[in-house]
Amino acid sequence: VRDLFRRAGIDTAELDARLLAEAAFGLERLELVNREREPAPAEGLKQFEAYARRRLEGEPVVRILGEQEFWGLKFRLNAATLVPRPDTELLVERALAVLPPAATRRMLDLGTGTGCIPISILTERPRLGAVAVDLVSEALEMARFNAERHRVASRFDTRHGSWFTPLEEGERFDLATSNPPYIDTAEIETLMVEVRNHDPHLALDGGADGLDAYRIIAAGARDHLKADGVLLLEIGFTQAKAVSRLLAANGFTAIQTWRDLGGRDRVVSALNAVST
Ligand SMILES: C[S@@+](CC[C@H](N)C(=O)[O-])C[C@H]1O[C@@H](n2cnc3c(N)ncnc32)[C@H](O)[C@@H]1O
Repeated sequence: VRDLFRRAGIDTAELDARLLAEAAFGLERLELVNREREPAPAEGLKQFEAYARRRLEGEPVVRILGEQEFWGLKFRLNAATLVPRPDTELLVERALAVLPPAATRRMLDLGTGTGCIPISILTERPRLGAVAVDLVSEALEMARFNAERHRVASRFDTRHGSWFTPLEEGERFDLATSNPPYIDTAEIETLMVEVRNHDPHLALDGGADGLDAYRIIAAGARDHLKADGVLLLEIGFTQAKAVSRLLAANGFTAIQTWRDLGGRDRVVSALNAVST
């Protein structure tokens, strides 16, 4: 299988073959090596072949395994959810920086997918409550599963609908986060097959200029933030200026851009300052 993967041009052929074998046979790495010479059980073999076929068709290993690690926690995925990306951990870091450890606070996450952003933050802040919104109910099911898995379900509430629409009028939060779809529609066709064919397009497509979701969020967020509430947005690395401008035009202040470990602009933060 490793050689098949290599011939198919998969860069991580060896690792991918091992991860799929571990999952198919239900064995850890060392056991797999120790039992190499034993005949493989038919059930596991069938599973391994099925996994290998999917990988050869371009499906990423994380999608086949249905799980991805984020902020040191395992998140279950389905076809409706994006695979959580390490870049998004910067959003979690910035959120923790504005949430005092022992304070009672409420946060909102827009476009929650697997729930990786609010669930990671909830595990670090025992008195925080979170509301997570997504347009796709299958994503919210996954998010609820992940919240239970990480024992924060009692503080995690999901709402089904578009951006702010499932919230109550006047419902306000101390913090709002979002990693919205931000890729231009035309650019999606140029992405790697793993992303283009296997990530849900609703999670990627930010409209003609990639900024559709930011326009809606920038316009609506102040109605759902408390005085001095903070908005944290993940952005594509070329979008800092445009997103900052949208936020300023909607009355946000203290607008700052934060870079990821690769040195690229990744998060924009803004304050809903109290008007005096
Ligand atoms: C880029 S993904 C981010 C998922 C997750 N927060 C993460 O960081 O891995 C964007 C998410 O926004 C959701 N979404 C797209 N349009 C939406 C809308 N109009 N209202 C609410 N959520 C939406 C998608 O279903 C998807 O889960």
